[in-house]
Amino acid sequence: CGIVGYVGSQQAAPLLLEGLARLEHRGYDSAGVGVVGPSGLRVAKRAGRVRDLSEGLPKRFAGKLGIGHTRWATHGPANDVNAHPHTEAGGLAGSVAVVHNGIVDNAAALRQRLTDAGVELVSDTDTEVFAHLIARSTADTLEGKVVEAVGSVEGTYGLAVVHADFPDRIVVARNGSPLIVGVGEKEMFVASDLAAIVRHTTTVAHLEDGELATVTAGGFTTFRQDLSRSATTATKVDVDPSAYEHGLEDGESRMYAEMLEQPAAVERALRGRLDDRFGTAHLGGLNLDARELRAIRRVKMLGCGSAYYVGQMGAALVEELARIPADAEAASEFRYRDPVIEPDTLYVAVSQSGETIDTLLAVEEIRRKGGRVIGLVNVVGSAIARACDGGIYLHAGPEIAVASTKALTNMYVAFALLALQLGRVRDLSIADGKRLVNALQELPAKLEQVLKLEDEIAEIAADLAQCDSMFFVGRVRGYPVAREGAQKLKEISYRHAEAYQTSELKHGPLALISPEVPTVAIVPDDELTERNVAALHEIAARGGPLVVVTHDGVDLGALDVRRIDVPRLERELDPILLTIPLQLLAFHAAESLGLDIDKPRNLAKSVTVE
Ligand code: G6P
Repeated sequence: CGIVGYVGSQQAAPLLLEGLARLEHRGYDSAGVGVVGPSGLRVAKRAGRVRDLSEGLPKRFAGKLGIGHTRWATHGPANDVNAHPHTEAGGLAGSVAVVHNGIVDNAAALRQRLTDAGVELVSDTDTEVFAHLIARSTADTLEGKVVEAVGSVEGTYGLAVVHADFPDRIVVARNGSPLIVGVGEKEMFVASDLAAIVRHTTTVAHLEDGELATVTAGGFTTFRQDLSRSATTATKVDVDPSAYEHGLEDGESRMYAEMLEQPAAVERALRGRLDDRFGTAHLGGLNLDARELRAIRRVKMLGCGSAYYVGQMGAALVEELARIPADAEAASEFRYRDPVIEPDTLYVAVSQSGETIDTLLAVEEIRRKGGRVIGLVNVVGSAIARACDGGIYLHAGPEIAVASTKALTNMYVAFALLALQLGRVRDLSIADGKRLVNALQELPAKLEQVLKLEDEIAEIAADLAQCDSMFFVGRVRGYPVAREGAQKLKEISYRHAEAYQTSELKHGPLALISPEVPTVAIVPDDELTERNVAALHEIAARGGPLVVVTHDGVDLGALDVRRIDVPRLERELDPILLTIPLQLLAFHAAESLGLDIDKPRNLAKSVTVE
């Protein structure tokens, strides 16, 4: 979900709506605004997109202070009533308006308590309880009321509150869900994400968990739940606001623009980090010297969704180049199996947004148990970046489309740099180091070449889009590529795609192969090519149509397949180039079906609830 708030000398509603449009990737099933003006509090909210909210907004919606929200449903379906803000009077009336990201774990108990006290709850949400708790508080100040309310709540929240009786301020609170305060000229902003306010200010304060803030037109103060002042201050964030504009106005798909930006994004990720004299990488942000790097006995990648799959690619790289045992695990599962945290393991948290709560909680669990975590994060200053001991920023620039492309590619590049540095303080030869440094330098140009395959891939994609179900298969290095490819297709084209190890097909899923169920096979030119080709024959013999993502010159025998030839890099680094056609495949499949590629149903770009 996304939160935005404004207080200053301008009319709030247009600024809030603009902020919400910029936050829509955080959730887009319903949206709303609450503005405090001369006639008190007014709320407008509805199911659907921010655009629908703007079009339906009453002409007179005056007020220079307000909050807005775009929702990704957790409790209750996406309808007008469940949209935020919530008020204590239900619907669009009331004195208190609240927008909330996160989950109230004790919502059922609190709802019961309120109902027993005669309160009529109108929505299915957990958020509505905040409005009532605040309205019923007997504290004299809005700060006191909010502190009292959050004191009865167990769970996570990023919260913004306005109150008709305190028309000069927004009170915000954070616990486990991001909230920033943006400082302008005699005007102030609040947001869950810098994207909402970057056009107005890049001077922001990040609230800590357990912290609250009072925000007025003149400034802000932060405090803790005992109302004592805290010391959080605003700093200027080093971002280019124009990077957020790209593709927003002209209706072009953000995913498409982000895919095409990959060569430039990779150049940014590599800048100043490669050393061709010694065939290594320099990653100052790791905060680990050569002795510490040498002491690492195991590497564990943690991420969710695409970040998890690229973590698997990264683990293969580390194991291959540095010969350190490495694996990847879904961050969402990690802490629930009570993992053993080893002091000589390097944990790597992978996240574009740096806000995914499952990944953040994994980081906190590791740190609590004394482990060392570094972050591979795109958003500078985000929660995960701040929670880690060090890290590698991805420098992909803002990524807005739900389906990750350039951030994923830069995650891979960051893993390659890490593997190189770990390898070169161990057994990796200078010759191999130089070979890989050269390959990384060639990567942007090779990416350009793969992107040129678009037209032929679009044709294949349109045909695949007609199938209800398909397999994506690969082996060893190719398997995470297949997983990521299947994920992309599912996310944006809503076709069912299952990723499998090519070698495991014959142990079960081959039963599903038929002329209606195609297979997209990853067949790089490597030590497994022959084995992979043998598996293609097994699929073809059962009538399964084949799309093969491979390298020029790989002999597929007399098979009738549609092949996509990707340029070679170096064997170890091939997975990233093999991933790109699968992005194009998913994109064009979704496009041929006329779907909303940047905002696939049921999903959100970053999920800040567990
Ligand atoms: C969500 C998105 C995925 C993304 C995952 C991890 O589930 O829908 O596309 O891969 O979060 O996001 P992160 O920001 O942590 O990389």
